[in-house]
Amino acid sequence: MKTIGFVNQKGGVGKSFASKVVANTLAGSSYKKRVLLVDCDDQETSVDLRRRDFSERDEFPYPVATCLPADLPAMMSGKKPLQVVTEQGFAAQKFDENDYDFLIVDMPGRGQSNDISGLLACLDYAIIVVNGDDSDSLSTIKFLKNITKTQQLRVNHNLPPLKVALMYNKFELTEIYKETVMFWEKQKAKHGIYKEVMFISLKETYRKYNDTYTNMLSSLKSNKILAGLYKEFAAFMGKLVVFLNQ
Ligand SMILES: Nc1ncnc2c1ncn2[C@@H]1O[C@H](COP(=O)(O)OP(=O)(O)OP(=O)(O)O)[C@@H](O)[C@H]1O
Ligand SMILES: [Mg+2]
Repeated sequence: MKTIGFVNQKGGVGKSFASKVVANTLAGSSYKKRVLLVDCDDQETSVDLRRRDFSERDEFPYPVATCLPADLPAMMSGKKPLQVVTEQGFAAQKFDENDYDFLIVDMPGRGQSNDISGLLACLDYAIIVVNGDDSDSLSTIKFLKNITKTQQLRVNHNLPPLKVALMYNKFELTEIYKETVMFWEKQKAKHGIYKEVMFISLKETYRKYNDTYTNMLSSLKSNKILAGLYKEFAAFMGKLVVFLNQ
């Protein structure tokens, strides 16, 4: 099992969006992976979405569960049960890593640094989701310090370093964003961020697939008008899979 987190302490960048879209696609017919999506945000964006989706269907390609960031280490080591979203509420289940190929963590856009460090320590892969205006904000700097701290902790515990990639989301390559790209180019070298950078533009179509089951790859492919978007999303998934095979 590989644990992937879509991370950033800045709110609204698209962590929940990316978690859901990637979970849907990896679990769907294109990849057929066994996925578990864990919503670590007490705002419960992903949990709410699955709840709403229960009104449309009763079978899903993967389960959604909830867990506070501070409880993630205990949940993953089997000391705390997994709270899986059901139509009625939650069902406590023992977590077994052999049940899944990918555990995808949807991180909260705020929280105590210690809790966030605990969450980061559980990951094998961290994908930092950033927007065009996300360069030298305080939350970004704070978050990068957390990444550095996590890497040091892992070295101290003889663990391999966390693999870190960058995802430019809601991103258009215009003049305004050049500064942000330059900022992250510097951070990439400093924080050992993997060379593959993933890119997703801001599109209403992405927002439209607001559910916890649509495999966006096959859905975009079947729509000729969305050929450009299919190309972009397929390139994103391609780079993501290369990163996850590192
Ligand atoms: N590429 C995109 N194109 C269009 N809309 C997007 C895109 N990515 C995210 N959004 C929209 O932006 C909003 C914020 O995204 P999301 O809730 O995933 O952010 P978040 O990082 O999880 O926020 P929080 O920190 O509050 O948890 C949502 O309405 C989402 O649908
Ligand atoms: Mg969120």
